[in-house]
Amino acid sequence: MRVIFLGTAAGGGLPQWNCGCASCDIARGTGLHRTQDCLAVSGDGEAWYLLNASPDIRTQILRTPRLAPRPGSRETPLRGVLLTSAELDHTLGIAALREAGTLTVYATAPVLAVNPATALAAHYTTLDPRLVTPGGAVPLAGGLVAEAVAISGKKPRYASNSPDAADWVVAYRLTGGGRTLLYAPCLASWTDAFAEAIAGADVVVLDGTYFREDELPGRTGRQTGHLPIEESLPLLARHPGPRYVYTHLNNTNPAARADTPEHAAVVAAGASIAPEGGELPTPR
Ligand code: MLT
Ligand code: MN
Ligand code: ZN
Repeated sequence: MRVIFLGTAAGGGLPQWNCGCASCDIARGTGLHRTQDCLAVSGDGEAWYLLNASPDIRTQILRTPRLAPRPGSRETPLRGVLLTSAELDHTLGIAALREAGTLTVYATAPVLAVNPATALAAHYTTLDPRLVTPGGAVPLAGGLVAEAVAISGKKPRYASNSPDAADWVVAYRLTGGGRTLLYAPCLASWTDAFAEAIAGADVVVLDGTYFREDELPGRTGRQTGHLPIEESLPLLARHPGPRYVYTHLNNTNPAARADTPEHAAVVAAGASIAPEGGELPTPR
């Protein structure tokens, strides 16, 4: 299995266009930007899937040679998109993929029902929506199998009046090529079900939105459905086996920068911060 970190920031990216905080300023100055969270995965190196589709998707695809179309054709190696939530930072990119011949989008029922980017794209391309049910196996091309794991009932703000459901936010457990990846960019709490889902995984790509609970003015990390790193980091040692990589880093999170004590604390705990644009080293 191959995994490319197309984008590693939370909504807004780093720098955020209207933010002049120290981290955004430094990112602006150094050019070390982080685009919004999105992964590309493949079981065979030929057929690729996007895990989420960020508003930065065009830039992310263009700078990733492996995702280029076959010369002289419009044959793309991208076979579909799997959504972990209906949040704008994870879905707006679907509207930007409207040139596709067919666009296959895998998501849970509440996400498929409300997502405006999917609805928009359906006017421009043949949209092929695939219902994902937590616990059910979803066979994908290239020898991958995906399974959604229900994480939380957190609805996007634009859908606050929609019915409650336990699978507004999911993680994906992907297996292929003898490797298992768990992708959980929005983890509200470390539940028993989550612990079960990481058992046997080789790599866990984990919610790194905030480092601290009180990082965001006015709201706690947990209130926004994101367990801060300071709380998940001590739990990693209790669940040994997988390699842990934090992603979906908010621009308030000092660990998004390599020169901070918070970044060093993550590394000291044996985990890492997702490399923007980088690929996970090939299977052991
Ligand atoms: C989140 O990850 O919590 C959402 O993307 C937040 C947002 O869109 O404002
Ligand atoms: Mn987000
Ligand atoms: Zn900022």
